[in-house]
Order: sequence, then structure tokens, then C-alpha cells
Amino acid sequence: MDIKSRRRFLQFLAASPVVAYTQAGRLYADEMLDQVELPDYLIQSPDEALDVFDFHNVAKKVLPTSHYGYMATGTGGNETLRANRRAFDDIYLRAMRMVDTSNVGLETELLGQKLNSPIVLAPVGSQNAFHADGELGSARGARANGNLQILSNVSTRSIEDVIAARGEPVWFQLYPTNKWSTAETMVKRAEKAGAQTVVLTVDLNSDSNRVLLGQFIRLDERDCTVCHGSGPDDWVKSKPMYQGTGSVTADWDMSAMTWEFLDRIREATSMNIVVKGIVTAEDAESCVSAGADAVYVSNHGGRAEASGWGAIESLPEVVEAVNGRVPVMIDSGFRRGTDIFKALALGADAVCIGRAYIWGLAAFGEAGVAKVLDMLDAELAMVMGQMGAISVSDIGSQHVGRRG
Ligand SMILES: Cc1cc2nc3c(=O)[nH]c(=O)nc-3n(C[C@H](O)[C@H](O)[C@H](O)COP(=O)(O)O)c2cc1C
Repeated sequence: MDIKSRRRFLQFLAASPVVAYTQAGRLYADEMLDQVELPDYLIQSPDEALDVFDFHNVAKKVLPTSHYGYMATGTGGNETLRANRRAFDDIYLRAMRMVDTSNVGLETELLGQKLNSPIVLAPVGSQNAFHADGELGSARGARANGNLQILSNVSTRSIEDVIAARGEPVWFQLYPTNKWSTAETMVKRAEKAGAQTVVLTVDLNSDSNRVLLGQFIRLDERDCTVCHGSGPDDWVKSKPMYQGTGSVTADWDMSAMTWEFLDRIREATSMNIVVKGIVTAEDAESCVSAGADAVYVSNHGGRAEASGWGAIESLPEVVEAVNGRVPVMIDSGFRRGTDIFKALALGADAVCIGRAYIWGLAAFGEAGVAKVLDMLDAELAMVMGQMGAISVSDIGSQHVGRRG
């Protein structure tokens, strides 16, 4: 925003009857814009968006109550969900001046794959709940900017269709179940479809207590069985990646999984294996010892355990334990270019986003996803310019500090 438009905007704010200042905000009206409360504004098209939260407002409006709840909520009292966002405030940026930043580039490499951007689409299941195009909309949106996509194995579209829509292979995420043949069938199918990497999610081996989701669901007056069916195995049958596995809902249990499971996957496929859901140095070490090709820091967007520990807070110890032996990825709570920059500065090689692109999908389908990715890429490039980093590999620990 240039100075003139900023002044006009501030004049508008000062005059607007819809603006409510908090007590503290009144003291520092201009400087503390974060204390100005504006009503939700609903953008009419992706181009109107100023940041990814504009898509959230629309998603909240258009989604059925229970689907919005499924996407938005965390576990327990949402301690981890909140910690994921709050933790970014404890990290500040350190700008290096007088670097020629006329040519900032986001290109990078991950597991031998050249990427246009370190920003990746995290696996999110059941995307037809958010838009009729489901995972195909996300694939087309990701194609527009060339961002890597990870497909959930509880997707509403098959990997074959998603790869066709994406125009190149996606990575495949796996919830294995305790029945090995289910995992094996899916892994082999993904490899045959062209996926080069399988992402094993290990943070939901026990159940998670999604209280707030339950509260959203009971407010939804529609008959859920119309779409979801009412039989015990209707859920599994509706998921294309489970077809041909012979799996039933009763198999949906991963509580017996241990590190040996990686050996079984390794025997079944030559795909890279990434372990998703790591938050400690101990487990990072176990991943590398068990032969993982990359470690993916994640608390499932605050949907797994109510640890109250933000993902970005667990990143440093994982990076230290991995010590450059394999790449480190991260997700959970990333909404802005500054968030992404902070993770890269703390040693992540790629940053995945979940809800942010789902907000785009829910709001405007593939155009929404494309715009979210485009905005985050542009925000990241801008922060890199401000910090004096012209490439992803230039971003380092010198660019961040921690309060306290
Ligand atoms: C609606 C929803 C569905 C998800 N489904 C999966 C899934 O099928 N597999 C998986 O590994 N993670 C799943 N996740 C977790 C994401 O991969 C990712 O870890 C999380 O969304 C990151 O946090 P963020 O949403 O704050 O960006 C899901 C997340 C959401 C919000």
C-alpha cells in the first residue's frame, strides 16, 4: 500500500462507525492497528484477497457447519491449535541490509525433485466436503503455480485422477491401518500411478479428542447419512484409495505401528519415505535410523494431541537431531510469508500448508487455491527481499531471533 492510500485508509478507519477500538488501542490508535476490530469482509473474487484470512471468512460463510467444524477445529481444548499460531510471535526477524535483492527466487530442491517454491500442499482428506471439485480443484490450483501437492489416502478423488489434474506426480500420504495388506495395496497403487514419495503419518496412532468438532456437528441440522451413508463400512467404501484393499472400518486402527513399519514399506516400494508428525529430537533420530528419507515436523494442525506445543517450537530440536542427514519439512499453523520464512530460517527445507489452501478451495475452488499459493509465494519473496536473502538457501539462523 503506498503512503497516499495508507493515509486514505487510516482516514477511513478513523471516520468509520464500524470501527471499535479496544481501551489499549484507543491510546495508540494509529500504531496499533492490530487492536482495531473490523467486521468480517467477504471478498467476491480471489483477486480481492489481501491475505489468506480473506478466504477463511468466505469459507466460514459457505461451508456447512459440520464441514467447517471438521476443517477448523483442533483437539481437546484446542491448546495445540492456538500454540501453533502464537508461537510465531516469539520469533522475530533480523534484516540484513544492502544486499542486491532485485532478483529473489523461490526455487529449491527436495528429495531430488526441483520445486518452484518451498511451499507445499499438505495432505488434507475428504476435500469434496469443501468444494465439489475436491482434490482435483487443489491439484489444478497447485498446477497454476507449480507447488508440490501431497495427496491424502482418505481423499475423495483417486491418485490417478489427481495426478492427471496436477499434470505431474503428487506425493502420497498414508494412514496404514493395522492390516498390512491395506497399506501395501495402497503404496503399490500410488507408485504405479507415478508417485515418487510416500508420506507416512504417525501422529494419529491413538485417537484424538475433537470436542469442538462434536459441538459443530450437533449444530448442523442436515441429515448427514444422505452423503455419508449409515452403514459401518460406508465411510471406507466412499474413499477411492481403499478400493481393492478389502479394508473395513474396523481395520481403521494404527495403534500397533512401530519403527519396524518403515522396513515393511521399504520392502514394498522404491518410493522415498517421509515420516509426518514428528515433534521431538528423539523421534527425529529414530526416523533417520529407520531409514526415512525426510522428517516432517507436524502436530497435524493441532488435531492430534493437546500438547499445547506449537510446531515451530519443536522444529529447532528436530533440525538439530537430524543434523543435515535428511531434509526437514514442517506444517501446522502457517498462514503468512513471514511464518514460512521463520521456519526456513530455523532449518526447514520445505513448509506445508493445510487449512490456508482449503479456505481457498472452499471459497473459490481451484482459483482460490491458486490465489492462496500465489499470495504466499509473493509474501515469502517479499520477506526474503526485506531480509536480504535472494534464494531459499540464503535463508539462515542469522535471520531470526527469539524473545525471552
Ligand atoms: C480438514 C483436514 C484434514 C486433514 N487430513 C489429513 C490427512 O488425511 N492426512 C494427514 O496426514 N494429515 C491430514 N491433515 C493434517 C494436515 O496434513 C496438516 O498437518 C495440517 O493441516 C497443518 O496445519 P494447518 O492446517 O494449520 O496448516 C488434515 C488437516 C485438516 C485441516
